[in-house]
Amino acid sequence: MQQVSDQLRLEAKKIGFVPTMGFLHKGHLSLISKSKNIADITVVSIFVNPTQFAPNEDFNRYPRDIDSDKKILEELGVDYLFLPSADDIYPFSFQTFVTVEELSKIIEGEYRPTHFKGVTTIVNILFNCVKPHFAIFGQKDAQQAAIIKQMVNDLKMDVVIVVEPMVRESDGLAMSSRNVYLSEEERNSARLLYSSLLTAEKFVQDKEIDPERIKREMKVMLSEDKNIRLDYIKIVNADTFNEALFIEEGNVYYVLIAVRIGKTRLIDNILVRPGR
Ligand code: PAJ
Repeated sequence: MQQVSDQLRLEAKKIGFVPTMGFLHKGHLSLISKSKNIADITVVSIFVNPTQFAPNEDFNRYPRDIDSDKKILEELGVDYLFLPSADDIYPFSFQTFVTVEELSKIIEGEYRPTHFKGVTTIVNILFNCVKPHFAIFGQKDAQQAAIIKQMVNDLKMDVVIVVEPMVRESDGLAMSSRNVYLSEEERNSARLLYSSLLTAEKFVQDKEIDPERIKREMKVMLSEDKNIRLDYIKIVNADTFNEALFIEEGNVYYVLIAVRIGKTRLIDNILVRPGR
């Protein structure tokens, strides 16, 4: 991969990179299409990264379908698929990790304390292999994107991070490889996530300034479905990820939500702009 990238750079080609864990869906495809628009060459990686899963999480059952993914990437005309093995990435002697200290501790980090350390470490390794000019991430994992931006900034990494909007199913459910875990009944319950986010958006548009009020209304909506167990609802400044004390015009906020439905953990979010 490094030799390919060196050659491309010699030819003055701009490299766009979309890191994924595979089981590709339309969310991934929108990132690929963005890369194709802004770069000369698009590289997609597929690697289910063990270090970002805690021992009690779903690493072993994480959905994988490499044949179907390859077909999709070929049809899209993606230039390179980077498909390393776990031993290539994490040989027995491996012992170096990269951590974004503060942003990794809050929100998702409270529920998944080792998760972002695994993400920043693998993204570093992948960047060092692919040597991209642009790397494209999704709003679906808004905190992940913010943490990657922080890392790139702090470590003065020579890559531009691009964040693309959320892609949803027709009923509003955020596209996710994990959606296949849901039974029909659970899939139905999952629709409430987006409804609750739209409710939050409506409150902001109607000039509600108290985040607690918005969160209360969302909790009431979600509590009506017995399948849904709430991990958190947070309203944060979209630039800093600090929790908002008031919703102020001129700022942009993420309303972030994480729930468990049966054995599946789902996250979702919406960007809201007061006063528009
Ligand atoms: P994965 O969950 O496969 O997601 C790969 C990229 O697709 C991420 O940037 C994610 O935010 C984006 N994405 C997923 N669902 C999306 C949706 N519905 N709309 C828009 N974008 C979406 O995120 C990871 O993998 C891993 O943590 C990774 C960065 C590859 C490191 O292992």
